[in-house]
Amino acid sequence: RITALTPPDILARKGGDPLVCLTAYTTPLARLVDRHCDIILVGDSVGMVLHGLPSTLGVSLDMMIMHGQAVRRGVERALLVVDMPFGSYEETPEQAFRNAARIMAETGCAAVKLEGGETMEKTIRFLTRHGIPVMAHIGLTPQAVNSFGGYKVQGRGDDAFHILRDAEAVADAGAFSIVLEKVPATLADRITETVVIPTIGIGASPACDGQILVVDDMLGMFDAFRPKFVKRFAELGEAADAAIAAYAQEVRSRKFPSDAHVFTDGRKGKTE
Ligand code: KIV
Ligand code: NA
Repeated sequence: RITALTPPDILARKGGDPLVCLTAYTTPLARLVDRHCDIILVGDSVGMVLHGLPSTLGVSLDMMIMHGQAVRRGVERALLVVDMPFGSYEETPEQAFRNAARIMAETGCAAVKLEGGETMEKTIRFLTRHGIPVMAHIGLTPQAVNSFGGYKVQGRGDDAFHILRDAEAVADAGAFSIVLEKVPATLADRITETVVIPTIGIGASPACDGQILVVDDMLGMFDAFRPKFVKRFAELGEAADAAIAAYAQEVRSRKFPSDAHVFTDGRKGKTE
């Protein structure tokens, strides 16, 4: 069995070849992503992408664990990271540890991700000192969408200083990498130069130490909204729509199923 990448392996890639990261929520897509990527994230975006929730706020620990288990079965080489959902880590470092330990024990993931910078410094330090590698996530943190008043670019103008401070705080607390979401490219560049841990950009900068996208977004399978930072590498949603339309037409016209898809009674020696 091929050994999986570890958080120290990822940390060692700072300043090296770009880290290739994608989300996955199911076993079949995890198998595909695992063939090409360094990190597979079971993101809480699963709530919006697969469950039709209006935001990530309604995602539960049980949902993350169930999708984490599904993805685990498809991963051999990539580092598996599972998102901590809203409400599962913010109260105290102890609450975060209890729930992160459950995620790790029940999914077999090697690390968790949580949102927040300076405010999560104590919690990240507590987790990392107790055997739980943490990927941080700063800039636009979607679980705080109500506080931000929308999915807006973070860290423009004087706010840049706060995001830089967040990056330094999570690195100092022991995070092994940091997602920078929807921040100006110049700020992402400055953070990438400043902090000693790999930065993983989404709507950030090509100079980040790695990139991540939601896999359904880059495959063109999620249409509820379309952020500027999503490049569609395929249009699988359109392909699926055309296929379903063709199926419907063939059922209505009795073209499907044809002889190729039905069974004989077997009396003429045929086995199928
Ligand atoms: O939930 C998610 O998919 C994420 C990535 C976009 C970073 O947090
Ligand atoms: Na997330």
